[in-house]
Amino acid sequence: MSAHETIDVSTQDGSYDVHVGAGILDGLGELVRGACAGRAARVISDSNVAPLYANDVALSLLDAGFESSIHIFEAGEASKSMETLSELLERLAEGGLDRDDVVVALGGGVTGDLAGLAAALYLRGIKLVQVPTSLLAMVDSSVGGKCAVDLAAGKNLAGAFWQPSLVVADVDCLDTIAPELFRDSCGEVIKHAVLADEALFAALERRTLTDAGLTGEELVDIVARNVRIKRDVVEADERELGLRQTLNLGHSIGHAIEAASGLSLGHGSSVAAGLCCIARASSRLGWCSDECCQRIVALVASHGLPTDTDVPHKELLSFMLRDKKRHGDGINLVIPREIADVELRRCQVGELEEIVRLGCGVS
Ligand code: GLY
Repeated sequence: MSAHETIDVSTQDGSYDVHVGAGILDGLGELVRGACAGRAARVISDSNVAPLYANDVALSLLDAGFESSIHIFEAGEASKSMETLSELLERLAEGGLDRDDVVVALGGGVTGDLAGLAAALYLRGIKLVQVPTSLLAMVDSSVGGKCAVDLAAGKNLAGAFWQPSLVVADVDCLDTIAPELFRDSCGEVIKHAVLADEALFAALERRTLTDAGLTGEELVDIVARNVRIKRDVVEADERELGLRQTLNLGHSIGHAIEAASGLSLGHGSSVAAGLCCIARASSRLGWCSDECCQRIVALVASHGLPTDTDVPHKELLSFMLRDKKRHGDGINLVIPREIADVELRRCQVGELEEIVRLGCGVS
């Protein structure tokens, strides 16, 4: 195991490196310089993360020859709005950033989404570097180019695909994450393992990601494995026309659980519960073995995440049918068949109702 791994991601417009390491934030400026030739770098961060890292990041960029400046917005999902985006775009314009300059998104998923969309829109697109500081952002949202803000009608409804020029994930940043947020993010890691990595699943069964004794090297290994899973999917289907939809494993029911909670249940926890619900339904319908379902439920439980929901199944169904991933009369559901083997299955409303009834509120 090494304390610094580099994963290359190829996209339609070129390729970029994802660096995963322990203590690599100090060298950020040089890494950005290697990927971006511009004059100026604007660090975008929220009011929780900026006090921890923004000054050091800006200094590192300055040392690498960038004119660096920091823009801070209020932490929280409420900032993933058109208002904050518009404010951010105005600040980029006032700073005179041009097409060669770079936006550095320093923070968790909200920051990556907001700064990513600003980079996609400003001057019809400028360079973007993702510096994820949360586990969720490291293993998922910083890689693959999706960025969005929320609208009154729902989450992530206004967005774009805009690939970064570089991603730098320093697992030392995870030391400052609140334990409940870290636990929540484990839902996406378990999802990746069910999707594509039997060995990762078995490793998490032996020792959970919430085990306080994990070393920096072990965290680097786990984050890098997740990035490779995401990389493989995104390279095959950058625009989510087919295979990338499998990353929505656990999300169709999970989003409904999250929405029904009024967003009070975390995204990762909702996905974990959604994953258990779809696994239970799949085993009852004979699409996966009981053993596979039990292993998924046990792994979710061992990370202290919810394995079911008490939201009535009709209510879940109505949220699912309002989901932006609905296609016409149905939804493409991701069905676990085995650990590291899933199927994308088109389900009409009647079949969906049966799946939700069989999988949810029954454990
Ligand atoms: N988070 C799922 C995706 O990037 O497609």
